[in-house]
Amino acid sequence: MEEFVTLTYNGQEIKLPVVIGTEGEKAIDISGLRQDTGFITLDPGYANTGSCLSAITYMDGEKGILRYRGIPVEQLAENATFKETAYLLINGKLPNRDQLTRFSVMLNDNSLVHEDLKAFYQNFPRASHPMGILSSMVNALRSFYPELGTTEEEINSTMTRLLAKVRTMAAMSYKISRGHRVVYPRPDMTYCENFLNMMFDTPVKPYEINRAAVNALRVFWILHADHEQNCSTSAVRVVGSARVNLYAAISSGIAALWGPLHGGANQAVIEMLTAIQADGGDYKKAIERAKDKNDPFRLMGFGHRVYKTYDPRAKIMKKMCDELLDSLQIDDPMLDLAKELEEAACNDAYFIDHNLYPNIDFYSGIVLRAVGIPTNMFTVMFAIGRLPGWIAQWKESMDDPKWKICRPRQVYTGNLQYDFIPIHARI
Ligand code: SDX
Repeated sequence: MEEFVTLTYNGQEIKLPVVIGTEGEKAIDISGLRQDTGFITLDPGYANTGSCLSAITYMDGEKGILRYRGIPVEQLAENATFKETAYLLINGKLPNRDQLTRFSVMLNDNSLVHEDLKAFYQNFPRASHPMGILSSMVNALRSFYPELGTTEEEINSTMTRLLAKVRTMAAMSYKISRGHRVVYPRPDMTYCENFLNMMFDTPVKPYEINRAAVNALRVFWILHADHEQNCSTSAVRVVGSARVNLYAAISSGIAALWGPLHGGANQAVIEMLTAIQADGGDYKKAIERAKDKNDPFRLMGFGHRVYKTYDPRAKIMKKMCDELLDSLQIDDPMLDLAKELEEAACNDAYFIDHNLYPNIDFYSGIVLRAVGIPTNMFTVMFAIGRLPGWIAQWKESMDDPKWKICRPRQVYTGNLQYDFIPIHARI
């Protein structure tokens, strides 16, 4: 039976339908509010606003639940490849053997990038941030691959092409920034193996595939693959709603992810831990600063708009830190510092009262350091992981017959009307 809520104002009453999700979460459908009442709603940061119906990812912020197409992220991290997870998010179910083979062949066949793209990289200053390069280069793909397609098959090949090329483009920016020869993808390597090989193989020291590092990367990318309507995914949906091409929509998502409050936090966590180490390891001072309202400092890697408990991904990432560093026989004092900082913060009344717990970014940088990824590439790693989620969310919005261009309203607080003042009369 349909449910409604009733709004009453100045004797006027309006009934608004209630939308109920698969897991019982409820929303008030206000799509007719303005035309029926002249009212709009106001929700800066959209903390209380749903932008769409989506069947891709389910999160419960109070219980710390995360599922991709209904499968718990813990089970995917334990059992799936990143390729299978990408296929699941985009196509709605895990691939059978034949579908996985075809998907793998397409990823492999499309993993090279146009040689002329290398010239673009050569012209970025060497110290350019790789997120700015990646966002620009993904946008540039439209110039090299203008055929986006109209049929399901053509659109699928455009999406797969982007998934295939993003690793190559990320590794290229790293190699070229160091003045090293670009390493090409190899057909005999998996998605994760290929990326590490393209990053670290050199003519004088061939890269030896390390199983622990490959597994860490697999888990890292699965954990980052989607997260419902976060800032960068919302950017992809909003930009995509203007019917731009996929590359431009994804490029906007990369730009949004770059922010230190969002995906840029994994780099900011390592910078924060490095600064604490330089300050004699005084993590208690960092906690006090984070609590001081007069200090803009925030404990990076802590807090979340949705999770008001421990981010389930952070639990897996923390465990991965221990396993990976043990397997690689790395003793990284930064991990010990992170654990001490977590312990102190999670037992501090301010963090408890504000429901601030470690999020995915708190431990992820330590995993990437152990694998050998440079700090300024950490958010690029997040972007490669999130790409299947962005693509799935973009496709879901494009396939929605009711989807319209995103154009929010506002409450105007500026001047009332007044007349133009000629220059001689202005003070
Ligand atoms: C990601 O949305 C997603 O799903 C994102 C993500 C994904 O997978 O896509 O999960 C990835 O972006 C994870 C978050 C990474 N960012 C950081 O770790 C940066 C540090 N965290 C924050 O700045 C903050 O917690 C946010 C941005 C993550 C969430 O901010 P909100 O929900 O807008 O909360 P808020 O800024 O309104 O803070 C609420 C209160 C405030 O105190 P009061 O004014 O109410 O007293 O909590 C405080 C804030 O000052 N607070 C913090 C804090 N985070 C929030 N205080 C100290 N340190 C922090 N990290």
